[in-house]
Amino acid sequence: MKGEGFEDLIRSWDGEEVLARFDEPAGAWMFVCVHSTLMGPATGGVRMKTYATPHEALLDCMRLSSLMTLKTAVSGLPMGGGKSVIAVPEVPAPGSEERRRVMERFGMMVGSLQGTYWSGPDMNTSEQDMDVLWDVAPYTFGRSPARGGSGDSAPDTAEGVLHGIKATVARAFGSPDLSGRTVLVEGVGGVGSRLAELLAKENASLLVADIDQERVTEIAERLAAGMVAPGDVIGAECDVYAPCAVGWTVNEETIPRLRCRAVAGAANNQLGELVHDAERLRRAGILYAPDYVINAGGAFHLIGYETLGWSRDEVDRHITGIGDTMTRIFERADEQGISTELAAERIAKDRLAKAGNPPTR
Ligand code: PHE
Repeated sequence: MKGEGFEDLIRSWDGEEVLARFDEPAGAWMFVCVHSTLMGPATGGVRMKTYATPHEALLDCMRLSSLMTLKTAVSGLPMGGGKSVIAVPEVPAPGSEERRRVMERFGMMVGSLQGTYWSGPDMNTSEQDMDVLWDVAPYTFGRSPARGGSGDSAPDTAEGVLHGIKATVARAFGSPDLSGRTVLVEGVGGVGSRLAELLAKENASLLVADIDQERVTEIAERLAAGMVAPGDVIGAECDVYAPCAVGWTVNEETIPRLRCRAVAGAANNQLGELVHDAERLRRAGILYAPDYVINAGGAFHLIGYETLGWSRDEVDRHITGIGDTMTRIFERADEQGISTELAAERIAKDRLAKAGNPPTR
């Protein structure tokens, strides 16, 4: 997309609706992208981040939003896909007055949609932020248990990713046993750090990387993991590369340099170009666990507890099921000679097509 303005970008997207707001007090751009409401109200978290340009922030928001449509559909959740981004010059400190104000003003935008879009936690946003949002826009997942919410979904996201990694390793190596398998966790934030803990318990041989030197050193020491410099992640030799931070790390330029047998991690939007890069991975003999399938644990937690009335057992059952879904996708991809991404997309699109054409009585 060449144009610097928003119009070309928005028109190149197949979503339903885009809201854009320039927030003068914070110098922030705020976007809500509703990709699809075919399966129900759109949902997806709100990401707070510094971007090079508002154009880049909107592009990220649109792509993450499309991915949420696939995530809820492939997971069989009765909601559609959306996402929002607060593009700040600098991320305001959690708990600060500035932070609360930004969330309130963002909440007014979400509120104006009257439930077409449900927000929730994502990169750099927490249950405290969701509490603030909820007061302005009660279309918000993940507020704190004290405020009646289901709280932090990151541990369940990590748990689901672990099941997905086991299914991936089983496919690639013939056994789900992780002991001795080298797993490189890139990004040890809310989800990545918990995933690293779970992997350590499974006796995986752990490598960790993060741009936050202090955080990564603490985790590496505590879990007896090796450290990889952020710039060396792509060429690092490992069995499983688990991207758990920013997206777009697996692309035309990086794929030839990967030295792993599988890519299976928590980050949203891992591939630069969804279909093409998945095919490149397939040709390179690298097994790819589609991101929106393996990281659906958070969605099961938030939507399961807060709108479907699930018990802990039901949430657990769905999170464990991520491993089975992954296995089914691997099998289908092999049978049809297509990438795992395409196999997952076909499952999602079949469900969306059925939602769009309800059976006649
Ligand atoms: N942001 C997380 C995800 O991408 C959690 C989330 C799921 C937030 C569903 C809102 C709705 O899966």
